[in-house]
Amino acid sequence: MNRKIIVTGGCGYIGSHAVIQLIENQFEVVVLDNLSNSSEANLGRIKQITGKQPLFIKVDLSNSEATSKIFKRHNDALAVIHFAALKAVGESINIPLKYYHNNLNCLLNTLNSQTENGINKFIFSSSATVYGTPDELPITEKSITKQPSSPYGNTKKIGEEIIEDYCKTELNFSSISLRYFNPIGAHESGIIGELPKGIPNNLMPYITQTAAGILDKLKVFGGDYPTQDGTAIRDYVHVVDLAQAHIHALNRLLNQEQEASFETFNLGSNKGYSVLEMIQTFEAVSKVKLNYEITERRTGDITQLYASTKLAEEKLGWKAQRTIEEMILSSWKWEQNLLSKKNRK
Ligand code: NAD
Ligand code: UFG
Repeated sequence: MNRKIIVTGGCGYIGSHAVIQLIENQFEVVVLDNLSNSSEANLGRIKQITGKQPLFIKVDLSNSEATSKIFKRHNDALAVIHFAALKAVGESINIPLKYYHNNLNCLLNTLNSQTENGINKFIFSSSATVYGTPDELPITEKSITKQPSSPYGNTKKIGEEIIEDYCKTELNFSSISLRYFNPIGAHESGIIGELPKGIPNNLMPYITQTAAGILDKLKVFGGDYPTQDGTAIRDYVHVVDLAQAHIHALNRLLNQEQEASFETFNLGSNKGYSVLEMIQTFEAVSKVKLNYEITERRTGDITQLYASTKLAEEKLGWKAQRTIEEMILSSWKWEQNLLSKKNRK
């Protein structure tokens, strides 16, 4: 039976973990990626874990002709999972057109090429950023979406609007948009994980690289937020839990269980942790003392963000299983593995 799924951005952090889950669920995977923020080495890591290497095609999906050609060759695919995007929030503020160009063209070309070839199921990597500064906590899918604080975030909000419009007019086309909160962690094997290029923007890789001695000191952005310890709160979700949610969403699409042609789901853990709690938990599970200092707030950061994932539980049958300790320990295991192999690519 045909089980082919096209995964764009499948060499990246979340995409590679989703490819592992797809292979373990007997799907045949075709990865499309231009490697702008990832490495082909991840394909070997996927093989090490699953025993299978997915077919890989290097392509820039913002190029419509190149994209179209590939989809023609794989017109027997059942669905597309679309991870491909640029994601550096700060860079997107400095170079907005790069983000609008890349993220929106990748999306438009993928949608066009897949429907030209009769592939009418689509999963989109969205983000909690579409809620802007929320009026209520926890955030539900009914919470209103707002102008995100960065052009990157806006590509997710506009992306969802494009897909929703498309679902209204394109008969048989259906889509699920997954709104990730803060993905962290790595595969339990320590074989694959997040590999940020250059200095990391996100908290978790900053913590592990500081603990590993690659970076000198972690800056905690803001100690004067109106929270229990003055630092900002986020909803962290294990990347393996997140990857598994894609299988649930895919099965919902393939089994035609959707209640609307466009659906959105929050993917988080229903819990908020402050930056200081993250540091303390890291120190407790790793037994490594972290060098950090509390500094000014980072522009654009909000105080608190955590999800209600009731809808995903009810409709997708998915709930994050892994604890914050497991998330942090798996990140640390991956970082140590990278150090021992001196193989940071
Ligand atoms: P990542 O950078 O590791 O993966 C994205 C992949 O897309 C990379 O392999 C990159 O090379 C590829 N890509 C980018 N532009 C491309 C293009 N023009 N053509 C082909 N491939 C291209 O990022 P990630 O953390 O794995 O994120 C995956 C998706 O999830 C992204 O859409 C991201 O915006 C979204 N997301 C991530 C987070 C997070 O915190 N990591 C949070 C919310 C949403
Ligand atoms: N933080 C620090 N020091 C650092 C890095 C982060 O104190 O060196 C703090 C941040 O201020 C924030 C928390 O740690 O309070 C988490 O920061 P991240 O950068 O890891 O994550 P964000 O919540 O800022 O960003 C995430 C995703 C983005 C998305 C954004 C908005 O990474 O893709 O949420 O929803 F756009």
